Amino acid sequence: MAKQIVVSGIRPTGFLHLGNYFGALRNFVRMQDEYQCYFFVADLHSLTTHPKPEDLKEHVIRVVAEYMASGLDPEKAVLYVQSEVPETAELYLLLNMLAYKGELEKVPTFKEKIRQHSDNINAGLLTYPVLMAADILLHRADRVPVGQDQAQHLEMARNFANRFNNRYGVFFPEPEAFSFGGTLLKIGSLDGAGKMSKSKNEMSTIYLADSDDLIRKKFRKAKTDQGPSAPGEEKPESVQNLFTLLELVSDEGTVHDFNQAYDAGNIRYGDLKQQLAEDMIRFISPIRARAGELQRDWPGMERIIALGAEQARDSAAATLREVKRLMGLQYR
Ligand code: TRP
Repeated sequence: MAKQIVVSGIRPTGFLHLGNYFGALRNFVRMQDEYQCYFFVADLHSLTTHPKPEDLKEHVIRVVAEYMASGLDPEKAVLYVQSEVPETAELYLLLNMLAYKGELEKVPTFKEKIRQHSDNINAGLLTYPVLMAADILLHRADRVPVGQDQAQHLEMARNFANRFNNRYGVFFPEPEAFSFGGTLLKIGSLDGAGKMSKSKNEMSTIYLADSDDLIRKKFRKAKTDQGPSAPGEEKPESVQNLFTLLELVSDEGTVHDFNQAYDAGNIRYGDLKQQLAEDMIRFISPIRARAGELQRDWPGMERIIALGAEQARDSAAATLREVKRLMGLQYR
């Protein structure tokens, strides 16, 4: 039986952080053996906020390097840069004809942008979900690993697929949300407020590119201000965030000991943070080193990007040929 198709992308708005790694990347790596995967860097999506060209380029290369350093293998999964596959833009144009202004204006992320920066509400922002649908439908994806914040966008991709199928003949599968192993892991910000995020406070986000010292410093500043709890009390969010990370990078004995101290009401947060910092460094430093090496090898990166583009375009061209034929856009 043919493998199911998985598509997901990440916007290159900055370096990758632990939320990206444990929330997405680690699952991508697990999926690459079992599924036909297409993982890409959504450079076109990031243009809505007009990044400086030299920054954009650096970020895109860094994300590709970090994808690979985290274990994605270009021999197993197709790793590509969105703008290298012009069929994306072509399908986006065609899907725009099936997308209604009213439904696009109602999307919560769009309304949020209006609140955040009303001085730059461009058409690309309005049609962001259409471009995302194009990414997904381009490879006729069955499954799309995304976080909860993208659920609405995925729902729209399903709607566009159905609209196309109803009008022109059944061609697209309905892409489903997918989290490998069931539960989605949420990595909290070190200030105890919400998710770890690229755009928020730099000091409460741990990046895969952070130096050892910076990692130590960030953990030292991590919020635990409740002090040791009374025995048996539930952990406050900021403390739970640290334990979640501890479970991901420390050995079982360590996790057990700190949990026991917590339950006994005599945990020393300084010790917890120090241990976590050292274990995190042990975890991150090989990824950081490998990503750095890859990034400095420009000819190597160019080869990887060219290979990904070629493979992604094969799949994309096949989709577009059929889509255009179904729509009546075929003259020869
Ligand atoms: N919009 C997604 C985000 O911000 C990134 C993205 C773009 C994406 N195209 C996609 C994710 C296609 C999954 C599939 O996280």
